Amino acid sequence: MSAITRILTGITTSGTPHLGNYVGAVRPAIAASRRAGVESFYFLADYHALIKTTDPLRVQRSTLEIAATWLACGLDPDQVWFYRQSDVPEIPELTWLLTCVAAKGLLNRAHAYKAAVDRNTQDGQDPDAGINAGLYMYPVLMAADILMFKAHSVPVGRDQVQHIEMARDIAARFNHLYRGEYFVLPEAAIEDHVATLPGLDGRKMSKSYDNTIALFAPAAELKKQIAAIVTDSRLPGEAKDTDDSTVFTLYQAFAGSEETAAMRAAFADGIGWGDAKRKLFERIDAELAPARERYRQLIGQPAQIEAILQAGAAKARALATPFIRELRAAVGLRSLLAVADTGSGDGKRKAAMPSFKQYRDDGQFYFKLVAADGRTLLQSAAHDSPRSAGQCIAQLRGEGGKGLRHVEATGVMRGDAVIGALAEAATLDEVIAALTVLAE
Ligand code: TRP
Repeated sequence: MSAITRILTGITTSGTPHLGNYVGAVRPAIAASRRAGVESFYFLADYHALIKTTDPLRVQRSTLEIAATWLACGLDPDQVWFYRQSDVPEIPELTWLLTCVAAKGLLNRAHAYKAAVDRNTQDGQDPDAGINAGLYMYPVLMAADILMFKAHSVPVGRDQVQHIEMARDIAARFNHLYRGEYFVLPEAAIEDHVATLPGLDGRKMSKSYDNTIALFAPAAELKKQIAAIVTDSRLPGEAKDTDDSTVFTLYQAFAGSEETAAMRAAFADGIGWGDAKRKLFERIDAELAPARERYRQLIGQPAQIEAILQAGAAKARALATPFIRELRAAVGLRSLLAVADTGSGDGKRKAAMPSFKQYRDDGQFYFKLVAADGRTLLQSAAHDSPRSAGQCIAQLRGEGGKGLRHVEATGVMRGDAVIGALAEAATLDEVIAALTVLAE
């Protein structure tokens, strides 16, 4: 089996990328995209940004900076799906479909929302003071991001694991309520040794703590920021603890295991904080300097980045548009004619019929199912003989599409048998509708 794994990750466009984003998301995601058997989806989560800021220039600037960051770090937009969330209107549309199956109680338990409520309670305020409904709905929008593209794996920091679990929960509920395998249930992938990076003050590196180290600041600035990392007051010569040391943890995130072991030994031997920070700067700078230069150039060419994003949106929508069509049909948002066409047979209007077309290619035998409007819906698997292909057609015709299901990695199946593949932009619902017409 050559099953493809789909990996998807997004970064909220509300700030300037920092080392935490790089280590926690950008670097592992790009490494994963280069593995065989992987399809990668990277996007700029600009709808999520609106939850955090009402400053339009900040959203736009951050979008530019984050897009440039991915590209500078080695993303090849031709090899992956790279797009801006708000260029794919199917995502907010899916958000609503999911909103209507998501349990409100599930959203009540979301960490980000609960933390905001707890802060209000502590301050003696109304629990929901200053909390917008976007923060509350955040996990559903994120679920739509993930489920829209049937991602299997989502690389995230530990703080985001709950959101992936919620996406699974919502997906399973939708599949159950609408009786189909519409959504893939995603899993969180955590980089175990460096899931979250500490910031200057030792707490999680985060814009909201104002403790970040900018990813592509000039080298002199990087040095200055590293010098500002909070340490304990042990003197050179005194053994130092690696466990709670921000300097050590950051070093480890950039160093190989040998270098890390050497630094651990240096801590035990009482390396001075100044020396340790210098080594840390050199290690980080060695990894980032080439990308920093590419970043400078890209930031100066917003038109080029915009064009890349537009091409990426078209590529993403090639998947999203037929899928949302299928989902709309599944929940009942569908043309009245779609039902009438399959149900009536009044003979007044001699409608074109779906049909099977058989053909031979390279010694094997195939058929395709063509819709009434001439679009190919289904492309069969290869058969050894015309007889075998014919039997398959007869069975499909006889059963009117009953028992067919679509499995992402294999195609259209009946039981264990692979019937064929959905044609570009066709859905299983359309196949079943066509077969139903033929059976009547
Ligand atoms: N919530 C994520 C963050 O703040 C960003 C994000 C939005 C995301 N949608 C996503 C991450 C989908 C992974 C998958 O970091």
